Amino acid sequence: MAQAKYSTHLGMVDILPDEARKWQYLENLIREEAEKFNLEEIRTPIMEQTELIVRGLGQLTDIVSKEIFSFSRGDDNYVLRPELTAPVVRAYVQHHMAQRGGSQKLFYIGPMFRAERPQKGRQRQFHQFGAEVLGSDDPVADVEIIAFMVQIYKKIGITNTTLKLNSIGDPDSRNAYKKALKDHLKPNFDKLSEVSQKRYENNPLRILDSKEEEDQPFIKNAPVITDFLNEDSLRHYKQVKEYLADLDIPFEEDPYLVRGMDYYTQTAFELISPDLGSQDALAGGGRYDLLVEEIGGQPTPAVGFAAGMERLLIACEELGIQLGDEKKVDVYIVTLGDEARKWGVSKLPQLRDAGLSATMDYKGRSMKAQMKDANRENAKYALIVGGNELEEGKFTLRNMKESEEKSLSFEEILEKLSN
Ligand code: HAM
Repeated sequence: MAQAKYSTHLGMVDILPDEARKWQYLENLIREEAEKFNLEEIRTPIMEQTELIVRGLGQLTDIVSKEIFSFSRGDDNYVLRPELTAPVVRAYVQHHMAQRGGSQKLFYIGPMFRAERPQKGRQRQFHQFGAEVLGSDDPVADVEIIAFMVQIYKKIGITNTTLKLNSIGDPDSRNAYKKALKDHLKPNFDKLSEVSQKRYENNPLRILDSKEEEDQPFIKNAPVITDFLNEDSLRHYKQVKEYLADLDIPFEEDPYLVRGMDYYTQTAFELISPDLGSQDALAGGGRYDLLVEEIGGQPTPAVGFAAGMERLLIACEELGIQLGDEKKVDVYIVTLGDEARKWGVSKLPQLRDAGLSATMDYKGRSMKAQMKDANRENAKYALIVGGNELEEGKFTLRNMKESEEKSLSFEEILEKLSN
């Protein structure tokens, strides 16, 4: 086949109809579960102000320093949103959502953009679903967020996952830990990777996330943050673990789990799958008790997570889990002659009004070709009509799977199929 003149950008993919059916199934499932968890949907623009994302996520994070798609128009600076926590917080502050009363329990589904090096499970335009609870510092909120996340995978049948859990404490605990970590790394500073050396001063926690070979010996015996948590942070973390145990949600504590954005406080977690290869994080999240204030709102504790939809689909593929049904249509009207074709066009709306999906040939093809097309469309029934049928008012309804035919009036057909 000739090469197309135009194609998608690197790391951005089209979702074609066969694939889109899986997405629809998944999105419906997420919405249904969100409803059960009393989460309300929020939709924000694809573009945000650069300043919001820089302030929200942190200047020195990989996302902000390397992966942002940005451009300007006049005096305005735009970025394609790399995630939705900062935008949701922006909306919360902008629309005074606290005034709606109670905690705001929100979920979202949509595309995000990060200019990463594409590979399996890593794209430049990808999709997340996620949830955020704003206005509660109660460990119950953390656990509800985790329970919602875990529930989606359970419903789909992806059970081979590991929930990694950590607490990175409040700023006081974290500062004490940062100092201890730096003291530990200092004697071997020269042996650290270049990236880690860069992170040493401003973002030492991220060194724990390093995949570089030369950093591993120093990460392995580094002090653990949980030894530096103050009383409040420890109590919060303990309660989260207790509630998770009560809910039979298994977790593994990982004291070296740090997340990629600067806004996190206290609880941090990731859901990992062995079926994903090197991009093994299905989802991740945590608390961000200071972010609302950071971007101009009243102090408001909050917690949330986001999950990669593409990674979820890859896991399904690996595990042989089929999402949704095959393409099908209830009725395909097969016509012979102009009158029959006219009749067919006029009956399509009545079939659809009766709740059926219905289609017919758009190309004026032979009856044989139409029957073939009905098969290709995976039609349950072919409604066959020619001159004789029109005269008698009785039409042939063919059950395609059983290869059975019945002669019925149109009303009888409607009656039969809409039951
Ligand atoms: P994150 O860990 O950056 O967190 O992203 C969450 C999930 O999005 C990842 O676990 C992964 O499944 C998916 N993901 C991230 N980048 C890509 C990519 N380039 N291609 C494909 N999938 C990707 C956040 O975004 C936070 N906003 C989560 C959060 C919500 N924290 C608190 N509330």
